[in-house]
Amino acid sequence: MRHHQSNHFPLTIMTAKRRILVTAALPYANGSIHLGHMLEYIQTDIWARFQRARGHEVWFAWADDAHGTPIMLHAEKHGMSPEALIEQMNAEHQRDFDDFGLSHDHFSSTHTETNRALVERIWSRLKDSGAVSTRTIEQFFDPERKMFLPDRFIRGHCPRCGAEDQHGDSCEVCGATYDPTELVEPRSALSGATPVMKKTEHYFITLERFRDSLKSWVRSGALQDEVANKLEEWFGERLRDWDVTRDEPYFGFAIPDAPGKYFYVWLDAPVGYLASFKEICKREGLDFEEWLKPDSPTEMHHFIGKDIIYFHCLFWPAMLEGARLRRPTAVHAHGFLTVNGAKMSKSRGTFIKARTWLDHVHPDTLRYYFAAKLGSGLADIDLNLDDFRARVNADLVGKLVNIASRSAGFIHKFGQGRLAAELPDPALYQRFVDAHESIAAEFEQRNYHQAIRRIMALADEANRYIDEHKPWVLAKEEGREAEVLAICTQGINMFRAMMTWLAPVIPQTASAAGEFLNTSLDDFDSITQPLLDHDIERFKPLLKRVEPEQTERVIEASRESLEQQDTATVKEESEDSPTIEFGDFAKVDLQVARIVTAEHIEGADKLLRLTLDLGGSTRQVMAGIRGHYEPSELEGRLTVVVANLAPRKMRFGVSEGMVLAASDADGRPFLLSPDSGAQPGMKVS
Ligand code: 2FM
Ligand code: ZN
Repeated sequence: MRHHQSNHFPLTIMTAKRRILVTAALPYANGSIHLGHMLEYIQTDIWARFQRARGHEVWFAWADDAHGTPIMLHAEKHGMSPEALIEQMNAEHQRDFDDFGLSHDHFSSTHTETNRALVERIWSRLKDSGAVSTRTIEQFFDPERKMFLPDRFIRGHCPRCGAEDQHGDSCEVCGATYDPTELVEPRSALSGATPVMKKTEHYFITLERFRDSLKSWVRSGALQDEVANKLEEWFGERLRDWDVTRDEPYFGFAIPDAPGKYFYVWLDAPVGYLASFKEICKREGLDFEEWLKPDSPTEMHHFIGKDIIYFHCLFWPAMLEGARLRRPTAVHAHGFLTVNGAKMSKSRGTFIKARTWLDHVHPDTLRYYFAAKLGSGLADIDLNLDDFRARVNADLVGKLVNIASRSAGFIHKFGQGRLAAELPDPALYQRFVDAHESIAAEFEQRNYHQAIRRIMALADEANRYIDEHKPWVLAKEEGREAEVLAICTQGINMFRAMMTWLAPVIPQTASAAGEFLNTSLDDFDSITQPLLDHDIERFKPLLKRVEPEQTERVIEASRESLEQQDTATVKEESEDSPTIEFGDFAKVDLQVARIVTAEHIEGADKLLRLTLDLGGSTRQVMAGIRGHYEPSELEGRLTVVVANLAPRKMRFGVSEGMVLAASDADGRPFLLSPDSGAQPGMKVS
């Protein structure tokens, strides 16, 4: 065996201890946790665990989002009080989180006295600062249920494409977004009654007042570039006042001195982050007020989905500013989860609840797979179940656990379970130590996929080392016991380093590995010194391969739960369009049309009135493209129209057809046009 002088592995480690509050978005208290939620919670948990492993003070606090009309109605439908419903859901959520190995310090609810007190304090400071105004608005009211209707409880025909039974704010068929008042034949989703317009006085927060401070916060490094750019776009226009009032009946916090008025759920939800943390402070003897001071040296990080950026990057910092509290250090937004390449779907069995996963597959495997795909950007993440099994089996079982299982036996056979006193190849171990800070930096930046890539490259090196040194061959030769012990000590040390780095990702497996190694893997930086002359336990399998039957069972069980759903919920989910026969398509009379005039319509935010020339006849069509096109740029342009659509009576007149437009995820329309040379009235097929 070669001899080396030193087992000292030089490395500088940052020592300044940070104090960090970490949050994930609050799940609504009327539904089960699914894998879409878990993507975010796992991302957050890995970061929290990583920071703790680096020696920082971390508090991971969050809560159920317990208020709002949907929760009130859900409870009513199930014959429960909202309080009973949210309590039951809270217990279910906590069980899911514990079993997924989340390391939160507290999971509370927004429906607590702690939260109410904080909401009232923030509200009164906002009022004192002059940022609150009142205004009488007109809103749809259900005369049977005697309540104002949130947009999602109004249904009607889409003002753009005519699709029936669409929500009050957007169309699932053509993607248009609009005001509920623009819906054709609106009706209440609760009672079926035709809603009436009714006046009510609401409180608003004047966001414009915070424009300058918001702008500087946006560029303070608190946000990902893509998010900051999105905000710059929003700053391009006057920031709309935020309506923070809901009329009774409502499940939420009553607004002080405003009978019958409640705070909108989105006002008290983010305050729930602070209230949950305040409960930790009480329990742990921390100074909440110190943490929340505007110049506090502590950090506050919010992990959220990209759909709620507006709330977290405009409303929330404005509220904090108005209440003279510290703003978030950072908001980290992530993309959506798809399963097998498509939106999660109940009929395909890919709308997977956390509990269903836990029933059939080890949670660490999902944590690992998400980590292997997560970066710091907003890209969507796909859980492809075949790829998932291949990846987890190859990386975790085939590469990682394998190193330990190939080395452990010989340590017991030749060393009575005691590791050698020196490494035979310190240069190889030094390569692990050299990678340490880069791996840490990838975790810090939430580039988990890069951290995993680096760790797995080292796992390949470790396996190569064992393959080349063949301890199982040497073990059969007389007098080479010490050599075998040394090789396996090298193997165990490389395994330990990798398990330590992966502990934030696969905590349950790492904890079992820690028992096997007889040492804690909680300190990230401990790997800079190898584990030598140290007793380890006998090896027990740490993680099993994931078999196809397991993921199949997840899909089956998720499909089964569809049958338990009522049809209304199923319908809410938009699926891929079903196929149609040619005859169905042929029924649609598509023609080229020239836009003769385009005009704004008084009182309609989203609609333009178009007069179309169809080569002989003219038509009037209301198109939901206002705001995206200047009327003057449309005049004279050719487009494609559905000419045989039954005329529809809308609030602003009759629409006699529909122009075709593509739309992006934000609902922005792109009007279709034929190539030049086409003439009005030509048939399109
Ligand atoms: O979008 C949602 O699911 C909300 N319940 C998230 C709230 S996060 C925060 F602001 F409280
Ligand atoms: Zn539509």
